[in-house]
Amino acid sequence: MASRGQFITFEGAEGVGKSTQLANAAATLKSLGVDFILTREPGGTPMAEAIRELLLTPRDEPVNDLTELLLMFAARAQHLHTRILPALEKGQWVLCDRFTDATFAYQGGGRGVSADWIAQLETLVQGEVRPDHVILLDAPVEIGMKRARQRGELDRFEQEAVSFFQRIRGTYLRRAEAAPERYSIVDAAASLEEVSARVRDLVCKFHSNLL
Ligand code: TMP
Repeated sequence: MASRGQFITFEGAEGVGKSTQLANAAATLKSLGVDFILTREPGGTPMAEAIRELLLTPRDEPVNDLTELLLMFAARAQHLHTRILPALEKGQWVLCDRFTDATFAYQGGGRGVSADWIAQLETLVQGEVRPDHVILLDAPVEIGMKRARQRGELDRFEQEAVSFFQRIRGTYLRRAEAAPERYSIVDAAASLEEVSARVRDLVCKFHSNLL
C-alpha cells in the first residue's frame, strides 16, 4: 500500500505571490516524480467553490463574522473529506493554497473572532488532521496590498483596510514562530529568484526527509 502523502499548505496575506510559488512547488514535485494535487481554500470541490463565491463577492448586506467563519469551515469540511484526505490516503501529496491558518489569521486576527472557537471548529471538522508543512510567504502589508490592487477588481477581503492586514500578518507570524518544526517563513519581499529558490529548496527537503 502507498504511504500517506504529504499535506503542504501555502499561506500569507494578499499579494505575497502565493500563486507563483504554488506553481513553482508543483513544478518541483513534478521534477521529483511525486504524484500530487494542487488545490485551494475556500474551494477545491464544486460545492466548496460555490461557497467561495458566496464568501468573496462584495455585497451591500453586512456579513456577520460567525456566518463568514462557519462558511469557511463548511467549505473546508467538504474539501477535506471529499478531496484532500482521499488523495493523501492514495499516497498523493496535496499542495493547498491556504487552509486553517488562514482562518486563525483572517477571522481570528483580522475580524477578532475568538481563537478558541476557531480551534473548536478545527477539531470538529478536521479531528487530528493538520498540514505536515506550512510555507508562510511573508511581506510588509504595503507591498502585498500594492500587488493585490494591480491585479484589478478587489474581492470582499481585499477591500479591507491596512490595519486588517497588519493584524493578519501578525497572527500568521506568531503562529509560525510558535511551531518552527511545521512552519517555514519565507521572505516574500525578496527577489522572485530568491523566493523561488527558497521554496524549491523547502519542497526538496520535505521530500528527502522521507527517503
Ligand atoms: P485567495 O485570494 O488567496 O484565493 O483567498 C481568498 C480569500 O479568502 C483571501 O482574502 C483570504 C480569505 N480566507 C479567509 O478569510 N479565511 C480562510 O479560512 C481562508 C481559507 C481564506
